[in-house]
Amino acid sequence: MNIHKCRIIQLPKIQNPKGNLTFVEGRNQVPFEIQRVYYLYDVPGGAERGGHAHKELHQLIVAMSGSFDVTLDDGFQKRKHHLNRSYFGLYVPPMIWRQLDNFSSGAVCLVLASLPYDEEDYLRSYTDYLTVKDGK
Ligand code: TYD
Repeated sequence: MNIHKCRIIQLPKIQNPKGNLTFVEGRNQVPFEIQRVYYLYDVPGGAERGGHAHKELHQLIVAMSGSFDVTLDDGFQKRKHHLNRSYFGLYVPPMIWRQLDNFSSGAVCLVLASLPYDEEDYLRSYTDYLTVKDGK
């Protein structure tokens, strides 16, 4: 998978003096059905998350609160995104290596995912990732 398939998706924002609202519908704002939602929180300063790729999983990563960096890598190119708005999501298709770091205090990272959790879908070694990628 090419890193240029990753992109920032601007989500709808219903502005209201009493508070803003953003919504996400599978196959509408995001190019996949949403089968799972998880979130990272209470991430200690200096911690790194991710450090893997997925064989089949599509994801949308959103900074619900605070900020963090996502570094994407397709084996040829790397690109870093600083996420800090709850109405911008980073779409990450399968077979992209990702690492998350530089979490601010109180950061919450929401992930919308196209499939249920399956450890078999992970490539947790960068060498394995490159090997599988070259075979595709
Ligand atoms: P992992 O995906 O490696 O976390 P991160 O990419 O944020 O560093 O998952 C960490 C642990 O949590 C791992 O043991 C698997 C488990 N886990 C689930 O059980 N279900 C899930 O939906 C997710 C995302 C992780």
